[in-house]
Amino acid sequence: MRIPLVVGNWKMFTTPREASELAAEILRRLDLLAGVEVVLAPPFTSLAAVGPVIRDKGMELAAQDLHWEDRGAFTGAISHGMLEALGCRYVIVGHSERRRHFGETDHQVNLKVLAALRGGLRPILCVGEEERERAAGRLRQVIRRQVSEALEGIAPGMAQRLSVAYEPVWAIGTGKAAHPEDAAEAHEIIRRQIEKHLGRTASGSVRILYGGSVTGENAPAFAARSEVDGVLVGGASLKPADFEAIARAGWEGRIGAG
Ligand code: PGA
Repeated sequence: MRIPLVVGNWKMFTTPREASELAAEILRRLDLLAGVEVVLAPPFTSLAAVGPVIRDKGMELAAQDLHWEDRGAFTGAISHGMLEALGCRYVIVGHSERRRHFGETDHQVNLKVLAALRGGLRPILCVGEEERERAAGRLRQVIRRQVSEALEGIAPGMAQRLSVAYEPVWAIGTGKAAHPEDAAEAHEIIRRQIEKHLGRTASGSVRILYGGSVTGENAPAFAARSEVDGVLVGGASLKPADFEAIARAGWEGRIGAG
């Protein structure tokens, strides 16, 4: 069973105080929401402020990145153990903004997924094609490569803790979400690729999310697709009413699918 997952990626927004207020407001709005797992991913500096607000309230804490080593001389970096100590359960890995602005490679993404799994974290691996790659008909090739390289060395038994977010780069922060049908097609490609690495049973337990300009308006169309196990939300996750609408877009009816 794949429980639907709705993740708010707050990116480089919110001071600790703003973050705890935002988390409290989201919690208030989503109180008693059943059948959906809601995860908040504030910046590193706000994790300690948000953790106590949502602890034991049915929401989980995520970090937006981690380093691949357990410890060491890596100025500015944060390890999986540090995140676990702050109460993080999830960590976003390989977001396209990290790949694009910080030069993160598929190999580094793989090391980060491994580090998250080596610790007790649940990685949310982000993959997705650039607009020019889609235009050139390279969607399949790009996504398969990203998934394959990121999953190198991962045992099927770890699949339970893995989620993958399909985030076409051209859809992120542009207001131009993918058509749910196109997202569903990409999700199928991703699931088949995971299956090649981890086998059918393990692949069936991985949640595949859609991300890129998700709003309260378009979320029901994604929730209606059985291939879409949830969403990774950027901009709209900073607006409590929008995030509430996304989390209430009809995911709860999905339990039992898959
Ligand atoms: P967006 O971002 O919802 O603002 O498009 C999604 C993401 O970056 O995960």
